[in-house]
Amino acid sequence: MSQAKTIHLHDYTAPSHHIVHTDLTFEIFDEHTLVINRMQVRRMDKESGAMTLHGEGLTLLCVKVDDVKAEGQFECDAEQMVLQCDKDEFVLQVVTKIYPDENTTLEGLYRSGTILCTQNEPEGFRHITYFIDRPDNMSTFTTTIIAETSRYPILLGNGNLVETETYAEGRHMAKWEDPFAKPSYLFALVAGDLGVVSDTFTTMSNREIALNIYVDRGNENKCDHAMRSLKNAMKWDEEVYGREYDLDIYNIVAVDSFNMGAMENKGLNIFNSHYVLADEDSATDQNFMGIESVIAHEYFHNWTGNRITCRDWFQLTLKEGLTVFRDQSFSADMNDASVQRISDVKALRERQFVEDAGPTAHPIKPKSYVEINNFYTATIYEKGAEVIRMLHTFLGEEKYRKAMDLYFETFDAKAVRTEDFLWAMDQQGGFDLERFSRWYAQERTPTLKVHEHYDGVKNEYTLTLQQVIPANVKGEKQLPYYFPLAFTLLDRDGVALQWNLADKRQTLLDKGMLIVQEEEEKFTFTEVTTEPKLSINNNFSAPFKIEHDQADYGFLMQFASDGFIRYEATQKAAMNAIDMFVENGEIDTRYLVNFAAILEDESIGLEAKAFMLELPTLSVLMQEQKEIDIAPISKALNLLKHALATRYKDTMLTIYQQFHKPENSALDAQSMGERAIKNAVLSYLMVLEDEDINALCVVQYENSVTMTDRIVALDLLENYAPDLAQDRLVHFYARYKENTLVMNKYLSVLSASEREGTIDRVQALQNDPVYDVKVPNLVRALIGVFARNAVAFHAPTGHGYAFLAEKVIELDALNPQIASGLTTAFRSYDRLNPNNKALMKDALEMIMNEKEISSNVLELVQKILDV
Ligand code: PHE
Ligand code: ZN
Repeated sequence: MSQAKTIHLHDYTAPSHHIVHTDLTFEIFDEHTLVINRMQVRRMDKESGAMTLHGEGLTLLCVKVDDVKAEGQFECDAEQMVLQCDKDEFVLQVVTKIYPDENTTLEGLYRSGTILCTQNEPEGFRHITYFIDRPDNMSTFTTTIIAETSRYPILLGNGNLVETETYAEGRHMAKWEDPFAKPSYLFALVAGDLGVVSDTFTTMSNREIALNIYVDRGNENKCDHAMRSLKNAMKWDEEVYGREYDLDIYNIVAVDSFNMGAMENKGLNIFNSHYVLADEDSATDQNFMGIESVIAHEYFHNWTGNRITCRDWFQLTLKEGLTVFRDQSFSADMNDASVQRISDVKALRERQFVEDAGPTAHPIKPKSYVEINNFYTATIYEKGAEVIRMLHTFLGEEKYRKAMDLYFETFDAKAVRTEDFLWAMDQQGGFDLERFSRWYAQERTPTLKVHEHYDGVKNEYTLTLQQVIPANVKGEKQLPYYFPLAFTLLDRDGVALQWNLADKRQTLLDKGMLIVQEEEEKFTFTEVTTEPKLSINNNFSAPFKIEHDQADYGFLMQFASDGFIRYEATQKAAMNAIDMFVENGEIDTRYLVNFAAILEDESIGLEAKAFMLELPTLSVLMQEQKEIDIAPISKALNLLKHALATRYKDTMLTIYQQFHKPENSALDAQSMGERAIKNAVLSYLMVLEDEDINALCVVQYENSVTMTDRIVALDLLENYAPDLAQDRLVHFYARYKENTLVMNKYLSVLSASEREGTIDRVQALQNDPVYDVKVPNLVRALIGVFARNAVAFHAPTGHGYAFLAEKVIELDALNPQIASGLTTAFRSYDRLNPNNKALMKDALEMIMNEKEISSNVLELVQKILDV
């Protein structure tokens, strides 16, 4: 068992040495790669007679100090080298041998298909050579790559290409130089035989940047959207943040085997091909949106992450929360802002709220960790983005921009902390820094209880707000938050009412935006001429759960002016209806009636409307249960769907016919909205198990030119008309079996299926020739999706749990990061009903009892079992 060492933020000390410049040579051979690493070292701590370098799994060939063999001067163990050296400045040369073909962890240098590539965040570089592999050690790098020309015609590194040479025996060399100092986690190298799509971008100061997207040959025609997104992102960052690109070249490489979405290596992004390749035949609208946002995200890191980086990994949200906020803002500007907001909040609830409610909850700035790879979480990223968004709200666009400018000016080329970022924000004032900082230090989702009182005689309206702050994972009390709360008071027709705030000492950020700071607070409004209807937390101004017993969701579904609130109201109303059914078996007829307010309202944008028509997912409903029990909520959900489909069959069919345009594959908002809305109504109609509707679905599968339409049809057939699904699944497989990205979708449809027997089919699919346990996308598509299929995974037999445990153990031996990703499905353990809990316990113990379990998986299982 790997030793589980806990790393604490408060133990941080600056490194004793600084590697000022790093000159690397990679000699790539068939069986191994030779890494010659020459480091210009400066001693920072004059007291220190030893330099410690990280290094794992390396075959060490030679160590020299100032070109003299350092015999007897150093010692190595499994994790580091300690070099005795009293010099203030010296050149340390380390030569190591590594075996990328045997590397299944996908960190360090590894092979993806025919391509050799790297992944070094957070601690991959130590698998390449000995180094001070921490982000506060910023170094300039030159990279020389030497390899066989025919196998590796393309050789890429960070920065600018400065030299190439052809050698004897069919080998060649490329030398890259990156003038910007960076931490080792941003180092990258790629060698392979790749196709390329090129373009240029002219920056605001008129510099021409060469843009290249490298992909497997044959995929060049699937890069248009990625390239367009990149150029849009570059332009947007200039316009909105005043940030210009700083190198002459920007390279993106798409690889099929990648643990995450993509990586922002300086000037050489490496992407999961899922976030690059797309055309109408193989990618869904959601895929297109995903590409736009991830391309932008990695590009935005160039300033928020690379130029200004993290001092240590506890600061991860400094770059990630901020960069997610930036990519969300970008997508909102490129598309419909309120749709973007709905989809971001939906994702936050489905992923981050779940994490925050379970045993692995942590603040966006954790205080300790065992395995840093386990902290690339929805909390660090998405909740982190919500925290930045609140700052943006407090400061307003103009001051926020000034604060960002100051941040860039002050900390450029430095490795800093979240406190430094907050300092820059605070220079513009507008918020209480000390209280606001609690968002960084505390965990778990807070609840805001809302109580209203209206006095019709005095025309006085009072809003009582109570923050319910849960204790942290350790059971310690946490403090109330400081946050902006957007609200509107509406009259019966949905028109905003005028009011005055009675107590002038209370703070209003803006008309319609309260600043809340106490555990309990009362706001009194005067001159409110009629009893208002309250719309609260508009646009999700703060990441709270709202408990508002007096809310009139029927009214808000109809009248809220804020698209987000209308969506909220549909979700809350549906949740109440589901609760009611679970409690007394009755269908909430008022809800059925109110549903028309959305379905029949032609003024709502189609994409937003599709979101509003969706019922809450089982993942969201599970969170509301005291004791998780899937069967009753799944039954209620299906019956409610059935009741809605029955009642609105005709309207839904009309909408379907109106917007089903099988030939249209355009990506504008209207076209995407048309696909979204007609697929939303189709997913209701299919519940009716009506022959004519089944036929519509089959025709959609057969006639539509977009993957969006075809995969929806396939999924619906699989769930509601499996006999009809059979032939189409066979057809789909035959058509796409060479396209692994599409095969991910095929596997996901089958593993997400809620009909009987899914687990058996998933198990059988592991032997399918398209499946490969070494490719993370395929594992996520088959096993990961199964683990999120609540019906199948939480089956009362416990077979889902046992199967996942087996897979975690098997994968852990290959790729601990992917194994720990799968393990997160067990986080609901503590809240399960007794039967499921006992069965899950067996599965978790099976993992615990494994002798060779990684610290990644172990950390999670221990937290889940609370041992
Ligand atoms: N830094 C990457 C991003 O935010 C994510 C990542 C982390 C990728 C670790 C690989 C490994 O986009
Ligand atoms: Zn990122």
